[in-house]
Amino acid sequence: MSVYILGIESSCDDTSAAIIEDDKLLANVIANQDIHSNYGGVVPEYASRAHQQNIIPVIEHALKIANISKKSINAIAFTRGPGLLGSLLVGTSFAKAFAMGMNIPLIEVDHIQAHVLAHFIKKNEEKDNCPEFPFLCLVVSGGHTMIMIVKDYFEFEIIGETIDDAAGEAFDKAAKIMNLPYPGGVLVDKYGQLGNSQKFKFPVPKIKGLDFSFSGLKTSFLYFIRDQIKVNPDFIPENLNDICASIQFSIVDILINKLFDASNKTGIKNIAISGGVSANSYLRSRLKDGENKFGWKVFIPKLEYSTDNAAMVAIAGFFKYKQGKFSEQNISPYTRYNK
Ligand code: KG4
Ligand code: ZN
Repeated sequence: MSVYILGIESSCDDTSAAIIEDDKLLANVIANQDIHSNYGGVVPEYASRAHQQNIIPVIEHALKIANISKKSINAIAFTRGPGLLGSLLVGTSFAKAFAMGMNIPLIEVDHIQAHVLAHFIKKNEEKDNCPEFPFLCLVVSGGHTMIMIVKDYFEFEIIGETIDDAAGEAFDKAAKIMNLPYPGGVLVDKYGQLGNSQKFKFPVPKIKGLDFSFSGLKTSFLYFIRDQIKVNPDFIPENLNDICASIQFSIVDILINKLFDASNKTGIKNIAISGGVSANSYLRSRLKDGENKFGWKVFIPKLEYSTDNAAMVAIAGFFKYKQGKFSEQNISPYTRYNK
């Protein structure tokens, strides 16, 4: 008998609901919140209010696409954290109420683990390409940057992480310095594809081991742009593509070099990327190069499973369901990653 899981994601500014039948995705609906682009970043209070408005329609839409009734759902999985407290509360409260009302198990899912497990989402028409354990996963999102050894579905060992900003933050802050709207990562990618990545050089951070740092790069980028604008007020519009390509090169080069070190250190050549920044076209192509250059077997999520989505929450929920890992009604969200 098939198991149907409803997954809910509401950790930041995307409200998403997904339905899977075992590990096969039936529906994945995402409502983005445009309101934040006016403010240069996510406004937590607006995010919670938008989640409240979106959550029911998004779930109803997902049920319709999956063509099943809510009575067929065997369990509900939701993102418990990390994320914005108000946003998480909306998904958590809904999931608790739904589980109680339908008398089905409640399953908490960690957002970072869900990003990693996105690699196991299957769709009927596609050939499976799931990573084999153990694999290295570079998780790069708006709030997190880490390399982990993934030993099993819920067995992770973090071997490197950022000591300051996340890679996604570096993209978004660089975009903000260039006056591009939030979230700017995707625009840096878009313009960067048209530019010369070697035109401008930025200092490479020297951080020992497998840890990352992006705050020095951000500061030097800020000073670089400020100095150039003093000489030529039109420096940004005249050089936008080259600036984006160059800063993107610097960020991605840091990520790939650390992945290379991690692979050498552990001897693991199955390499995966996850999280919003894994949508970046240059990171994807540099990772792909690793197949020929370093003998890596690489795993790149489909674009729709890179950025925040509920499909990854549903698949994580499915693996927990099979292991009987259920949550109590009295749990509350957490805002920071629990290692
Ligand atoms: O995983 P995610 O959707 O949300 C969090 O869990 O934070 O990641 C969002 C981050 C943002 O910083 C966004 O700018 C970045 O992912 N991002 C990108 C691209 N698409 C999303 N960064 C670079 N290139 C992209 N194409
Ligand atoms: Zn995320």
